[in-house]
Formats: sequence, C-alpha cells, structure tokens
Amino acid sequence: MKSFRDVKRHYDFTEEDERRLSSLRSVMEDYTDCAMDSLESWMLKTKETAQFFGDENRKKRVFAAHRSWFVDLFSGTYDVRYYERLIRIGQVHVRAQVEAHLMIRAINILRTYCIGIVNTNIQDAEERTAMLVSLEKLLDINLDVITSSYMEEGLKTYSGAYRVKNALVTFAQGFSQTMNLVLILSLMGLTIGVVVLFVGDISKFLTGQPEHGIVTALGSLIFLWVMIELMNTEIAHLKGGKFYISVFIGVALVAFIRESLIMTLSHGSMDKQYVFIAIIFVLGVVFWLVTRAENMPKG
Ligand code: HEM
Repeated sequence: MKSFRDVKRHYDFTEEDERRLSSLRSVMEDYTDCAMDSLESWMLKTKETAQFFGDENRKKRVFAAHRSWFVDLFSGTYDVRYYERLIRIGQVHVRAQVEAHLMIRAINILRTYCIGIVNTNIQDAEERTAMLVSLEKLLDINLDVITSSYMEEGLKTYSGAYRVKNALVTFAQGFSQTMNLVLILSLMGLTIGVVVLFVGDISKFLTGQPEHGIVTALGSLIFLWVMIELMNTEIAHLKGGKFYISVFIGVALVAFIRESLIMTLSHGSMDKQYVFIAIIFVLGVVFWLVTRAENMPKG
C-alpha cells in the first residue's frame, strides 16, 4: 500500500486544493440532503444495490455513514487518519461483497451532482475551473484508495506469498506506529530537559555569573527552538507530511554552536576551538545543501 503522501503527489493534490475544497464546505452543506437523496434513490431502485438494504436498521446505519463520508470530503483535512478511513471503507465494502463497479458508479453519481453544484454556485469562470479540478482530484483519490482494497483482496486470494508479505507489512506498520509514539514522548521529555537547562542558565545569570549565564542561556534557547522544530517535523510526518532530515543536521549544528560559546567563555585551548569552528562550518554547508535539496520542486 502506498503512503498517502505518495498518493497525493501522484494526483498533484496540493494545499491549494485542500484550501479550495474546504471553502466549498458551507455551500455543500446546503446540498448534502439532495446529494444523498440522489445516491440513495439510485441504491434503492437498482437491483444489485437494493439487496443490501432489506434490513431497515442497516439501511439507516449505512446511509448515515455515506452522509458522513460526503460531509468529510469538504473538511479540508486530508491527513493520515483520512487515508486510513478510506482504506477501511474499501475493506468494509469488500467484506460486505459490494462489487467494485458499484462503488465507481456511486462516485460517478456524486461527481455529477457536485459538478452541478459548483457550476451553479461559483460565478467566476477561473475560480470555478480550479474548484472543479480540485474536486475531481479528491474524488479520484477516494476512488483510487477505496478500490485498491478490491485489488489487494484479489491478490490475497491468489497468492500465498502476498498473504505473508501483507502480514509482515501489517506488523511493521504497528511497530512503526509504536516507535513513533516512543519518539514523540522522548522528544517531549528532551524538550522539558532543555527548559530545565535554560532555567539553570538563568539562575547562573542571577547568581553572579552574568556573562556566562547570558551566553549559555542563549545556547539553551537555540536548543529549545531546534527541539520545537524537531517536534513539529515529527508531528507533520505523523500527519503524512514530508520528513525533513535538515532538522536533525540543525540539532548537531546547534549543539556545536552552544558548546563553542561555552568554550569561548572558559578560555579553553585554541586548537579545540578551531576544530569546533571547522565542524560548525562543515555542518553549516551540509545544512544549507540539504535545505536547498528539500525545498527543490520534484520533477
Ligand atoms: C461513493 C462510494 C461509497 C462510499 C464512500 C461509501 C462509504 C461507506 C462508509 C463510510 C461505510 C461505513 C464503513 C465503516 O463501517 O467504517 C459504508 C458502509 C457500507 N456501504 Fe458504502 N459507500 C459507498 C458506496 C456504496 C455502495 C455502492 C454500496 C452498495 C449497496 C454500499 C454499501 C454499503 C454497505 C452494505 C455498508 C455496510 C457494511 C457493513 O457494515 O456491513 N456503499 N459505506
């Protein structure tokens, strides 16, 4: 299974698309009942779909789930949890034996309906075109992820090797999520440690070593800033964002800067200071190169 970041990249689904879709939310809310009516009336009058809704309770439950999925289309939040929900939707339909072509037709009905709403409500031609493109991308992503469960199911049936691979991937995903939790908790612990370090530096400043106190406190503050950056990177990564290796180089850079500040005050050996300056220079260049590479648009 691809990562959501890759799926979004393949569809060129950008933050601009996200913003546009969330701006449609209030318009779509007014039309949700009608959109759901058009889907449900098709489901109830078509033989292949109507068979699922003999039981009144199931009908209510499923229609409520369909409505909630539709409303979420315009939430503007398309993160890892959104992706996991789509995967689950695919799996639930595979298990319920809803054929894939019915899913495609259902999306097709809603697509036609949504296009009509956008055409009626957005007067500016340029904005309308951009909105339709974003909408099409999101619906295609939904269909892509949901129907990929059908393909996986087909593979599972025919291939024993795939079953083993799938079990391994499921295990590795669980393990990786646990490790992410360990990582974020450790980062929080370390950030608290840096705050303690900073308080220690401030107390040095207040207890008669102002020069030393100010410099080391500055070093600790830079450290705190890097820790916050690290946490933000990890949070963005958990939400399905890009992983920035430059932040880790930043940590090393800051550690050496802080150490060299302290060394300057303790009037230690000049040789060691030259080595530190050389390391800071090399790390600075690497940091610059990596940041440039990270910000370069992918071809
Ligand atoms: C636009 C395409 C569709 C979407 C996005 C969608 C979405 C959903 C969602 C969110 C659920 C609840 C999943 C859960 O329990 O976590 C669900 C359940 C269900 N959907 Fe759909 N659905 C779609 C099309 C269809 C179609 C065409 C049918 C055919 C009749 C269908 C029949 C069902 C059934 C039977 C369940 C309940 C399965 C169970 O819990 O036993 N859905 N759907």
